[in-house]
Amino acid sequence: MCGIVGYVGKQNAVSIILEGLKRLEYRGYDSAGVCVQQGRRLDVAKKAGRVENLAKVAAKHRFTATTGIGHTRWATHGGVTDANAHPHVSSDGKFALIHNGVIENYAQMKTFLAGKGFAFQSETDTEVLCNLIAYHYAKEPARAKGRNRFLESVRKTLRHVEGTYGIAVLCTDFPGEIVGARKASPLILGVGDGEYILASDASALVSRTQNVVYLKDGELAHLTPKGFSLSTLDQADVSPVVDRITWSIADSELGSHAHFMEKEIFEQPAALENAMRGRFSADGSTAQFGGLNISAGEFREMERFMFCACGTAWHACLVTEHLIERFARVPVEVDYASEFRYRNSPLDPRTLFFVMSQSGETIDTLAALREAKRKGYRVMAVNNVVGSSIAREADGGIYQHAGPEVGVASTKAFTSQLLIGAMIALYVARMRDMSFSDGVEYVNALKGAPDLVRQMLKQAPRIKAIAKRYAHYHDMLFLGRLSLFPLALEGALKLKEISYLHAEGYPAAEMKHGPIALISEKCPSVFFAPKGEIFSKIVSSMQEIKARKGPIIAIATAGAELPPGLADDVILMPECHEAVLPIIASIPVQLLSYYIALERGCDVDKPRNLAKSVTVE
Ligand code: M6R
Repeated sequence: MCGIVGYVGKQNAVSIILEGLKRLEYRGYDSAGVCVQQGRRLDVAKKAGRVENLAKVAAKHRFTATTGIGHTRWATHGGVTDANAHPHVSSDGKFALIHNGVIENYAQMKTFLAGKGFAFQSETDTEVLCNLIAYHYAKEPARAKGRNRFLESVRKTLRHVEGTYGIAVLCTDFPGEIVGARKASPLILGVGDGEYILASDASALVSRTQNVVYLKDGELAHLTPKGFSLSTLDQADVSPVVDRITWSIADSELGSHAHFMEKEIFEQPAALENAMRGRFSADGSTAQFGGLNISAGEFREMERFMFCACGTAWHACLVTEHLIERFARVPVEVDYASEFRYRNSPLDPRTLFFVMSQSGETIDTLAALREAKRKGYRVMAVNNVVGSSIAREADGGIYQHAGPEVGVASTKAFTSQLLIGAMIALYVARMRDMSFSDGVEYVNALKGAPDLVRQMLKQAPRIKAIAKRYAHYHDMLFLGRLSLFPLALEGALKLKEISYLHAEGYPAAEMKHGPIALISEKCPSVFFAPKGEIFSKIVSSMQEIKARKGPIIAIATAGAELPPGLADDVILMPECHEAVLPIIASIPVQLLSYYIALERGCDVDKPRNLAKSVTVE
């Protein structure tokens, strides 16, 4: 949540910062602001609303400075107002600060600082942090002898802080310098040609450089026009490791699409191909993963798997659970990361722990990973963003290689997680009882998934027409069974988050135990009705809805014999392997929710109250 950018170089800082903020807007869009340093002066422009509002305000200032910081906010402490927008300036006017995270002990520090005469203009925890830096700077100039006083006062302040932060700070006494630091909120440093850019993630700087340093928790970066240095909260110097980003700015451009969500839905065949590349054995009967850092023998010894994630990634874990238990016959537990971290659940020592996260920065998932490691478990990560906190802290993992996902609603990252989950199930199954020929059949089915997704995507115009007919409802149910029960949850989540339409996901047979009371001609149901052993049971559930006048959209396998007239609308899926079915079934629900949201005039890429990457608790 919240996106931050800091620039030190020779170019106009504001235009580079604004471009970066536009790319980080998916992290929050309640307000935006910039502060530039012109000599010993700090000039601030900030505004509630989107970055485009800020751009209009900033244009009037005609800023020309070459050092500055900028922020796009997802509100935590304090409402969505101009005053609460970042950057915040200390009451002595010496420091400006942008922040992503939550300062948990801010109230106590605010009382302390107010007692020392500091005044506050906002309700934010960030302004407290900024004033605390000013306090330490004024109080202890002598202690910083031989060291940079600006850097030392930030360091000193952060030692008193409880909570999470990614920050960038300017100081009037140090023109052309920025101090940045992170704890549990992401921060990376782009090393360009005579310029340095701090940012929450690579999308904000990849147009200027692909060379980046990933800051670790508890590290500070000191940027000057001549170079940069890294150090820890304990004043130890850190040797920077410069990594290269493998994707370019074109990958995060909208191109000919109306929205990132649309673009990412249509990128799914390619994302699936990328997730599979090089990951099947030479004999084509099982999966192989390069980065697990655990031998096949050790993997074989595991008697249980535990998966933790949030939101859509949690739904992908539920599907993975189904596939591992079905094909490998190994017990799997799935928990919300936010629950696991506080639940202290007893785990078997021979449990292999997995976390799934597109961003790799979701704070609850990161905390679950740390908790599992603290308890002595080996933790694997399924993650899309290379170099993310989760990727770096996990003992091993599998990158999704889905490319940047910008739309707040996860689509291509979800199906690539489903695919990797299916590959994990195959890998475990082939170590146990799955035969060579069943393995080959499974691998071939996975290889065929991108083409089946292409077929599903061709139905977009028809699904758009169906969406038009359902966009005016206020409630909707999504019903599925077995591996498609998590898809029912995912369909409901997708619809809620981007169209603000109330939706619930349920196992189809559970309807009778309560939710059926909701059914009337005003509440449509989306049923997953794949061919298979329980098809007839699903048809019975549909009959029960129909008997109560509930409109029905069926997402059914082509050739499945739905009684005529039972469903008001039918979307057909090609017949496919069980491991591929959830991937194929994802496409209609993604398209349905996308087109319903468009029809309702919603901002699909930036739904209200949400942010792409949830880096606060
Ligand atoms: O980056 P992560 O996969 O850890 O994100 C987890 C959830 O915040 C995310 O999937 C969220 O539920 C999406 N907005 C759903 O579309």
